[in-house]
Amino acid sequence: MLTVSNLSVQFGKRVLFDEVNATFTQGNCYGIIGANGAGKSTFLKIIAGDIDPTSGHVILEPGKRMSVLNQNHNMFDEHTVLETVLMGNKVLFAVKKEMDELYADYSDENADRIGELQLQFDEMNGWNADSDAASMLSNLGISEDLHYILMSEVEPKLKVRVLLAQALFGNPDVLVMDEPTNDLDFETIGWLENFLANYENTVLVVSHDRHFLDAVCTHISDIDFGKINHFSGNYTFWYESSQLAAKQRAQQNKKAEEKKAELEEFIRRFSANVAKSKQATSRKKMIEKLNVNEIKPSSRRYPAIIFEQEREAGDQILNIQGLAASAEGETLFKNVDFNMAKGDKVVVFSKDSRATTAFYEILNDNLKADAGTFEWGITTTQSYLPADNHDFFTEDLTLVDWLRQWAKTEEERDEVYVRGFLGKMIFSGEEALKKGSVLSGGEKVRCMISRMMMIRANVLMLDEPTNHLDLESITAFNNSLKNFKGSVLLTTHDHEFAQTVGNRILELTPNGVIDRYMTFDEYLDDPKIKELRDKMYS
Ligand SMILES: Nc1ncnc2c1ncn2[C@@H]1O[C@H](COP(=O)(O)OP(=O)(O)O)[C@@H](O)[C@H]1O
Ligand SMILES: [Mg+2]
Repeated sequence: MLTVSNLSVQFGKRVLFDEVNATFTQGNCYGIIGANGAGKSTFLKIIAGDIDPTSGHVILEPGKRMSVLNQNHNMFDEHTVLETVLMGNKVLFAVKKEMDELYADYSDENADRIGELQLQFDEMNGWNADSDAASMLSNLGISEDLHYILMSEVEPKLKVRVLLAQALFGNPDVLVMDEPTNDLDFETIGWLENFLANYENTVLVVSHDRHFLDAVCTHISDIDFGKINHFSGNYTFWYESSQLAAKQRAQQNKKAEEKKAELEEFIRRFSANVAKSKQATSRKKMIEKLNVNEIKPSSRRYPAIIFEQEREAGDQILNIQGLAASAEGETLFKNVDFNMAKGDKVVVFSKDSRATTAFYEILNDNLKADAGTFEWGITTTQSYLPADNHDFFTEDLTLVDWLRQWAKTEEERDEVYVRGFLGKMIFSGEEALKKGSVLSGGEKVRCMISRMMMIRANVLMLDEPTNHLDLESITAFNNSLKNFKGSVLLTTHDHEFAQTVGNRILELTPNGVIDRYMTFDEYLDDPKIKELRDKMYS
């Protein structure tokens, strides 16, 4: 058990935590959420003992071991891969190191010390450490030929996996991770989801990845107004139940018993779905025991993202023939034949993000294809959310003037009209007069979404739309696209977004395309497609 008592943290005048008391119980997985800058990373650093709180204590039950997923990817560059993993168990590694050194310089004097160390080493099951570390690595897809090379020679994608192996090595009682799914591909995230869902020890994890949070969490710990509140259930449960409670609060005519019955029915349906989900875990069972009294109305502000079409498109949306693109002499994709039907919501997917970005850039006339043609239906109108929005913010305009650039009529140029779209993205009052040049990454994306709402196109193109956004915005964005009646081309590393919006998958590879009408999960899980994918990239 891990306890936080009377914890306060202050940076200058800013109070991040105010007398926080919280208990993290053995066996639970806590998903820590909160706005950008709420203090999630700071909280984990305090738990890990990397920084000291202004006042208060963190108490880990005696004899328990905590480990932290390292975020500095280059910290172990001078060590071999296997050694990096072994270093995850600090005590064991220190014992082994001292033992090795004494053996190298064996004498009667240090024999006693060696004996002592050996005893400790035995108790920690040290003789199996190398093989345990090796199998941990192999489970994470790091083949044996890489175990003895230096970390500096490991490619970035695999480095993250080695650091994961390090954190997981030796089965820590408390595992702490800050945004572990960043920079990981879907396969590795899937592996981690499964691993953590079946992990019996305590986990504290900060994440913006809703699919991941849903797969692994038994509790959500919400950081808001300087406090931390635990809620039973995963992210979706927390989100939907707190929304329902907020709605109920507004329904003054409804009787208390009716509201309670409605919440109970909600829990019953949710639990039934959890029980049906494919992850076979003991954690899943914990989520089945949810309690009406723990549900609290949400006090969060969610942006109001609503995409409307100025007019509906006809049947011809987009026709692509023989399209090809390359970068630095390398083929990104070729032979792309694709006919988009009305209402298609296509997840455009590739192992190489340069391929998907080139695809959108070509369709938006920002880049010339190496070969092939594309044609938009005459009744279509498009709007595009590029992965890199830098070019949109070169002029120093207030947000109102910035957004006004896309007004089509005199009516749309009206300040109240333009502010309406900014307000929907929670830029209200004074904020709408901020200059575009001072905006944070997340604020820029929110502007780009306002712009998209104002354009009212019937085809939306989105290249990594969730980058820089907080969970509230991602959730609102996701919901709006589920409800959108037009057509969508979408590339995202957000699994939940891809799964709940897409009805068709188009994978771009250097050897052609794979094009299937199915959900993203069906696509990832299909063994035949997996085989085909392996072939297409080789
Ligand atoms: N060492 C520090 N000195 C002053 N301010 C800090 C320090 N560390 C973090 N902060 C501030 O504390 C707030 C919380 O930061 P952080 O914990 O990184 O938030 P989160 O991970 O929730 O986005 C931010 O406003 C950040 O700028
Ligand atoms: Mg953080």
